[in-house]
Amino acid sequence: MVSLDALTTTEKVATLTTANGQAAMAVGPVVPYAAESNGAQAETDAPRRRRMTMLPLEVGTRVLCRWRDGKYHPVKVIERRKLPGGGGNDYEYYVHYNEFNRRLDEWVKLEQLDLDSVETVVDEKIEDKVTSLKMTRHQKRKIDETHVEGHEELDAASLREHEEFTKVKNIATIELGRYEIETWYFSPFPPEYNDCTKLFFCEFCLNFMKRKEQLQRHMKCDLKHPPGDEIYRSGTLSMFEVDGKKNKVYGQNLCYLAKLFLDHKTLYYDVDLFLFYVLCECDDRGCHMVGYFSKEKQSEESYNLACILTLPPYQRKGYGKFLIAFSYELSKKEGKVGTPERPLSDLGLLSYRGYWTRVLLDILKRHKGNISIKELSDMTAIKAEDILTTLQSLELIQYRKGQHVICADPKVLDRHLKAAGRGGLDVDVCKLIWTPYKEQN
Ligand code: ACO
Ligand code: ZN
Repeated sequence: MVSLDALTTTEKVATLTTANGQAAMAVGPVVPYAAESNGAQAETDAPRRRRMTMLPLEVGTRVLCRWRDGKYHPVKVIERRKLPGGGGNDYEYYVHYNEFNRRLDEWVKLEQLDLDSVETVVDEKIEDKVTSLKMTRHQKRKIDETHVEGHEELDAASLREHEEFTKVKNIATIELGRYEIETWYFSPFPPEYNDCTKLFFCEFCLNFMKRKEQLQRHMKCDLKHPPGDEIYRSGTLSMFEVDGKKNKVYGQNLCYLAKLFLDHKTLYYDVDLFLFYVLCECDDRGCHMVGYFSKEKQSEESYNLACILTLPPYQRKGYGKFLIAFSYELSKKEGKVGTPERPLSDLGLLSYRGYWTRVLLDILKRHKGNISIKELSDMTAIKAEDILTTLQSLELIQYRKGQHVICADPKVLDRHLKAAGRGGLDVDVCKLIWTPYKEQN
């Protein structure tokens, strides 16, 4: 079984994904696009291109596509499929918007594409060969880890097949508690779920099912909260610590679920190595998961958080910052500094930058006299490098006489603090009852 955690990442793998994926596409019937004829009109470039456009469009084609804002944006065709009941030439296209994150990739109809803007497709078979030759053994192993066990010597074709399999979202929506949630990315559910576009999760044990009736039958589920220990309770908010070794199935279910919203993460097979901190809003029906973060039981790289997720219905309410703050409170109790595992997603980076800015600038505002990065790190458990990059990005660091010096004009601090947004929900440290993993064992 897989766990999706721990993840390192994968800009490189993603690059390979795209290049390899396109080349692996089977070529379907090619029919010339019937451009409206306008004999009298002088032939400009656009109509010429348009007349030459072949349908269905090839995977890899670059074209403009009308998005939900009504405007046209450049996209790349990632995949295509025949429309059910359509004619031989009726396809829909899975596209990636160049300007947007992959979570906005979607199936679109031909009418949304501006065929005048079609760009000639590069010979990606050649490009692909070059890419696969350049691939290092390390990169190759990373790809293996994403899904297939024991494929040390995967050839380029198998890799393409694998990438082909993961580039299009498989599950479109999930039902979880009282929410139906649109997913963002591919998640490698077991093969028996290949034909599903919607899954039904038990919100307590996170078992997932193909049909609503199965979930209804499952409602007698014994759990009303995540398994494991409740280590924090404040008002209606509770945090549970789940040991992946003691609750393997729960850990794996959580990883399958989380991968639907996490892109650049590689799958590993062992949830045993992780603790999961599951945040819940509690009422008389039970404790409803809002989000979570995972943490390696032991991290040589001083990671204090592997993956973080706030479920979409709960996002932008301060839970992300709460989870981040919580991860640092655990580090403080361990007497260590910590940092999140890289790479950070776009939203992950925004949340961390906001958190670091607020915490550091609050201290700088209150502090009288000199303070060093080391002291800031000791006070906050934020790794020195993260403090340095945060303060540098705010232009609060100067290099004088061979040393980094923090220059904090109160007015500038106030301006940055205002821009850093709301503080999020506070962690009430008195309500955290927790012993670090090492000491527990
Ligand atoms: N657009 C713009 N800014 C955003 C957005 C957004 N959609 N989402 C978060 N932010 C920024 C804002 O600055 C926000 O603060 P503000 O609301 O005060 O302006 C700040 O990030 C955090 O907001 P929160 O409400 O505290 O965070 P949230 O509960 O939304 O969770 C999280 C943030 C966990 C990153 C969430 O977006 C998520 O789960 N994303 C999908 C999974 C993911 O990308 N996780 C991080 C991967 S990296 C890693 O795991 C190490
Ligand atoms: Zn259940």
